[in-house]
Amino acid sequence: MKAIILCAGKGTRLRPLTFTIAKHLIPIANKPVIFYSLEKIKNVGIEEIGIIVNPENINDFKELLGNGSKFGLKIEYIIQEEPKGLAHAAWIAKDFIGEEDFLMYLGDNLILDDITPFIEEFKTHEELQASILLSPVKDPTRFGIAVVKNGEIIQVVEKPKDPPSNLAIIGLYLFRKSIFEGIKNIKPSWRGELEITDAIDYLIRNKHKVKGHIIYGWWKDTGKPEDLIEANRKILDDNYPKTTVKGIIDPTSDIQGRISIGENSEIINSTIRGPVVIGDNCVIKDSFIGPYSSIGDNVIIENCEIENSIIMDNVKLLNLPYPIDSSLIGKHVQIIESEKKPKAMRFVIGDMGKVEIVR
Ligand code: G1P
Repeated sequence: MKAIILCAGKGTRLRPLTFTIAKHLIPIANKPVIFYSLEKIKNVGIEEIGIIVNPENINDFKELLGNGSKFGLKIEYIIQEEPKGLAHAAWIAKDFIGEEDFLMYLGDNLILDDITPFIEEFKTHEELQASILLSPVKDPTRFGIAVVKNGEIIQVVEKPKDPPSNLAIIGLYLFRKSIFEGIKNIKPSWRGELEITDAIDYLIRNKHKVKGHIIYGWWKDTGKPEDLIEANRKILDDNYPKTTVKGIIDPTSDIQGRISIGENSEIINSTIRGPVVIGDNCVIKDSFIGPYSSIGDNVIIENCEIENSIIMDNVKLLNLPYPIDSSLIGKHVQIIESEKKPKAMRFVIGDMGKVEIVR
């Protein structure tokens, strides 16, 4: 079995961050989102992975993941020139997939449940032509929705106005090569995309067995800033980090709860209340770093309070009069209090940046 991970989406709802970083490479608990899906795929014994990228982000993926050998994987890159839909992405991976069955993973989805039973069932039930991971949701109009009867999917519909069930298709699909027959027979949807949901519908209408595998654990489509902050909280809470301190903590600092501090980082006269992860070469001075904060590498924080936030590499935060909470701060950002007159807020913010001031 092979796997494809779909990473060609532009991440428009995460702008301005996604002007300079693919959404699948944004760090959660200091690890790029895509690492979580790669680990899941590797854990079920799949080593050959095709990553579907777009012409603008391919080099970022290549730089980070290379040919996969350093992770014990074989990674190939397949370029989707235009955003023509999930079914189109699978179609262009046809040569890579060859004659094998395959797992299709939407690269911005985070799933914590073990997917081994999902894979094993598909391997041992040859009569199944597809198996799809589903989860009950509160807002079914936002997803592809499936109707399940005795474990089998009898209907799928993409973002229905009047949902026939609350079981959402959450971004993990298992297919045999019959799916390409389905893709060949569908037309673009109202949003101009070849929908994988329509190709699955084709399989069902042609009497192929499609299994619905329901999970009840936490998962997230990390499309918006608040989703990333929630995912960061969940991952720090559940399985990351164990307390490890590689840097230096001075005696006037107070460390509470589970924390991870990277190499050459210094904690000076500060309180760190976990779960918190701090990368390498950081200086945290006269500050409070509160629960659910992930701080990247080379970050300088002085005289600030931070909580429930993702701070990426090379950020500088100095002398801020108010706490930073539930924030997502991209690489090389500086937020500093200055003595310069006149007293004012002075901004240099890129297109689509967002500053929220609550007084
Ligand atoms: C896509 C699929 C949809 C699925 C969702 C999961 O939607 O088309 O069926 O429920 O991913 O995140 P999109 O994110 O492209 O709107």
